[in-house]
Amino acid sequence: MTDRSQDSGPTTPTAGGPFTAERSAEIVAASLAGTTDDRLRRILTSLVRHAHAFVKDVGLTSDEWAAGIRFLTETGQKCDATRQEFILLSDVLGVSMLVETLDNPAEGRLTESTVEGPFHLVDSPPRALGDSLDEAAQGGEPCLVTGQVTDEGGTPVAGARVDVWQADATGHYDVQRPGEVPDRNLRGLFTADADGRFWFRTVVPSSYPVPVDGPVGRLLDATGRHPHRAAHLHVQVSAPGVRTLTTHLFVEGTPYLDSDVVFGVKESLVRTFARVDDPAVAAEHGLPSPYRHADFPVTVRREATGD
Ligand code: BEZ
Ligand code: FE
Repeated sequence: MTDRSQDSGPTTPTAGGPFTAERSAEIVAASLAGTTDDRLRRILTSLVRHAHAFVKDVGLTSDEWAAGIRFLTETGQKCDATRQEFILLSDVLGVSMLVETLDNPAEGRLTESTVEGPFHLVDSPPRALGDSLDEAAQGGEPCLVTGQVTDEGGTPVAGARVDVWQADATGHYDVQRPGEVPDRNLRGLFTADADGRFWFRTVVPSSYPVPVDGPVGRLLDATGRHPHRAAHLHVQVSAPGVRTLTTHLFVEGTPYLDSDVVFGVKESLVRTFARVDDPAVAAEHGLPSPYRHADFPVTVRREATGD
């Protein structure tokens, strides 16, 4: 037997004692004692504790654990530059929403956050205020979105960056239809004016199914769940000295608001897309008449910049 007592390299502490089912989490936790990063040690220790409790709770068999590992392997294998099956898994299990909600408490007047989702994969093209996101013009109801970015005290955030992206009338993002729609269609990066105001043209978002041709689709199927997201426009607002807000604008009166597959709907984010039937006003905005209008005031949190 090799004597390793003189080795100076990392060791696995055995202070937890021999492995037993009863003390399994405690024993593995003891092996983490050498983790110098306190936060990492805390996270790993808790993960081990909960994972072991889960195995005991359901009495997990070896075959079931192997099936779980196969599922996670396929989840990884499904990922590529435009497909993020792990984010999707986290989303449909509600983990993304829980992390998002705990990490961004919507105190006071702050606009609530929601999931970023797996389609914010490419940079949005910078567009001028008033431009249209819809270069493909392949259907959908014309619409105007307006808003103003302010802080908790009501002060406008001049020059805030407003990044928006949405699915098209067929329920797909540009990255899911390469060659069929212009690159970066239905995405835009706007710079709010001196009063924090922004406005742009687009089409009314439609509800759509999340991708179901992978392991997450099989999971939804096995659990009898539908795959649909409630109709929404993604909005991410950032500015120097402001905490970045990632959120959605949901369309009032559309399906799945009460059963969104990723649990992303918050009531405060549901807005009326009012019908405007005034040809003169429509012409002013470069829109056909009638069109729909949604207003989305956004309140963000100022953060200490540290200087
Ligand atoms: C999305 O809204 O883009 C999305 C969010 C979660 C899962 C799939 C899609
Ligand atoms: Fe989306």
